[in-house]
Amino acid sequence: QSNSPAEKHRPQFHFTPKAHWMNDPNGMVYLNGTYHLFFQHNPGGTTWGPMHWGHAVSKDLMHWQERPIALYPDSLGTIFSGSAVVDKDNTAGFGKNAIVAIFTHHNKAIEDAKTGLHQNQSIAYSTDEGRNWTKYKDNPVLPNPGIWDFRDPKVQWFESGKKWVMTLATKDRITFYSSPDLKKWTKESEFGEKLGAHGGVWECPDLITLDYNGQKKWVLFISINPGGPNGGSATQYFIGNFDGKTFTPENTATRWVDYGPDNYAGVTWSNTGNRKIFLGWMSNWDYAEKVPTQSWRSANTIPRELMLVDENGMPYLASVPVKELDAITSKATTLNNITVKGDYDLSEKVSPLGSKYVLDITTAADDSFSLNLTNAKGEEVVIGYDKASNAFYVDRNKSGDLSFSQNFARKITAPRVAASNQVSLKLVIDVASAEVFADGGRTVLTTIFFPTEILNQLHIKSANLVIQKLQYSGINSIH
Ligand code: FRU
Repeated sequence: QSNSPAEKHRPQFHFTPKAHWMNDPNGMVYLNGTYHLFFQHNPGGTTWGPMHWGHAVSKDLMHWQERPIALYPDSLGTIFSGSAVVDKDNTAGFGKNAIVAIFTHHNKAIEDAKTGLHQNQSIAYSTDEGRNWTKYKDNPVLPNPGIWDFRDPKVQWFESGKKWVMTLATKDRITFYSSPDLKKWTKESEFGEKLGAHGGVWECPDLITLDYNGQKKWVLFISINPGGPNGGSATQYFIGNFDGKTFTPENTATRWVDYGPDNYAGVTWSNTGNRKIFLGWMSNWDYAEKVPTQSWRSANTIPRELMLVDENGMPYLASVPVKELDAITSKATTLNNITVKGDYDLSEKVSPLGSKYVLDITTAADDSFSLNLTNAKGEEVVIGYDKASNAFYVDRNKSGDLSFSQNFARKITAPRVAASNQVSLKLVIDVASAEVFADGGRTVLTTIFFPTEILNQLHIKSANLVIQKLQYSGINSIH
């Protein structure tokens, strides 16, 4: 099945819906050993349409089992993005440990009437670990005050205030609300009207805590479309403090979770304690509906562990694949001290891995270099480090099928954050995607591509480079 022409671009260890359209990950919540993943889904086609919440579950973040659709459109509208929480103290009265989903009802008829009241926040609950869902009878719980873009609630329990906090995307800013019971919501504050990137509408926020040298910091994520650093949609973040009412950033520079064009609407799982696991939609609104896959559209990124790291005395966000990836990864082969003068051909080693592998490379950063993923047809994706500009890049200008959208062929660049005198790259390759984690995840670039045959060859190119360590291993298919 997976080798049939119709399936040739199907990722082998990233989540994809069996069929039909997917966009944002939704309602990610962990309960009793199971990771739940819901997703924006149109079961009626392979482009965006009436939104439902699709559902999949996993014990290990790698093997996913698709379940029946969890939330269907109803008289209040279709089901846009949102989150889910475990109501441990039964604050809502739906039952102890009920999973409560908080989502946006989107009403097309009201949208067409142009009153600006078409997006409202509603809730639904499940008392059997996500199998059956009941919509709350008094929806919506947070009616629209007259803001055209009013959506994507991300809810968490704020322990020191003993209340729920909702982070909501409201057009060009974030609005925070709070609630004792997930039903009555009170506005607390607004953030960001004059801060960060504003090339497009703000969507799909998240607010989490991370440790920084033993100190708790708050990180606010905001997806924006368009206006990303390499075109179309992308996700920015701010580090600061949140007191239950107001978010105060400690640095107002615009920073991006991922510089690649294909990581959007990413948020974290709830109920995972101090561990913060992030997952994004591995596409871009610039061309998501046109990519050349037949029976389904879109994959998610590999789940990523988030952390704060120190560079020049300042905290930065870093992300790396979750350690669970190791469980589907075969034993690594390690090569030490390779000198590259021109072209170092690794094709013989990489070709048997079938375009699904992890590769780690550490260099002395003495020269620019590139990793050229190619095939016999001369199609290629070039991943590199440019020493003169101190930047990373991914060039997909010759990556195979480009014809489906004028916005697709691109050279993607990202400034380097790390100051270390070693440059290291981790590549996660899966048939139609490359996720590049540079310098321990300080700079990340996620990029999709559609070669007409898999990119089974690999050349490392540099005029004069010492690779201190190179490691590669194949990855098993999860299908
Ligand atoms: C982001 C988004 C959300 C919205 C959903 C609709 O990609 O536009 O803001 O809830 O997709 O499918």
